[in-house]
Amino acid sequence: MIKIRNLHKAFGDVQVLKGIDLDVADGEVLTIVGSSGSGKSTLLYCINGLEPINNGEILVDGIDVHDKKTNLNALREKIGMVFQQWNSFPHLTAIENVALSPRIVKGLSKAEAEKISAAQLEHVGLGDKLGSYPAELSGGQQQRLAIARALAMEPSYMLFDEATSALDPELVGEVLDTMRLLAKDGMTMIVVTHEMSFAKEVSDRVAYFHQGIMEEIGKPEEIFGNPQSVHTQKFLANVR
Ligand SMILES: Nc1ncnc2c1ncn2[C@@H]1O[C@H](COP(=O)(O)OP(=O)(O)OP(=O)(O)O)[C@@H](O)[C@H]1O
Ligand SMILES: [Mg+2]
Repeated sequence: MIKIRNLHKAFGDVQVLKGIDLDVADGEVLTIVGSSGSGKSTLLYCINGLEPINNGEILVDGIDVHDKKTNLNALREKIGMVFQQWNSFPHLTAIENVALSPRIVKGLSKAEAEKISAAQLEHVGLGDKLGSYPAELSGGQQQRLAIARALAMEPSYMLFDEATSALDPELVGEVLDTMRLLAKDGMTMIVVTHEMSFAKEVSDRVAYFHQGIMEEIGKPEEIFGNPQSVHTQKFLANVR
């Protein structure tokens, strides 16, 4: 599980996360919503050690992410991350893209890595695109390729940072469907999103962030049906 205690993060003088306490249980799908600049992406970067923290503690499976002795590369094998911008290698085919980390990081043979990669591409609905280059894929397919790349490392956790917000509206659904499938399979997920219908339908809990504070967290029906904080109420009134 992921355990976050009293997390403080600043960029220079700007306090971006102001004391976050959050537990994410195994198999849980937590969505994070909130206005721009509220610290959602920063939280994800702190969880997988891409950003140092100023105070507090983040434990992933009991491992202190920000302890100097922690092997961050080993830790990151547990945590798959999918960003807004698709980030595959243009000169490699889909299957080569997915096989890259298993080969380099896990030291698998080309044949072993490509077997896993073909299965993951099949899983995200790209079974017929193994030999395609990223430029030959639609935006939605490229995002599903990014998801397959993360899954090929067999992570315990998946973090999504607005994985659909750069997509044309007609391509959003296929990526959300892939994420839904993952959630159904029991993957532990933290999903930063502006897709409120996804947050409502798929999450076990929804957290609302406002100016570096987690103002509210609860079941989707609580947050959407009966938001307690004024800021949550205002935010939801604007996105509905
Ligand atoms: N590398 C950085 N250096 C300085 N300030 C940063 C850096 N990254 C983020 N910030 C600041 O931290 C604050 C939180 O940013 P963050 O990207 O976490 O917000 P967010 O909730 O993800 O917003 P959005 O919905 O727009 O993606 C913002 O004020 C931002 O300007
Ligand atoms: Mg962000």
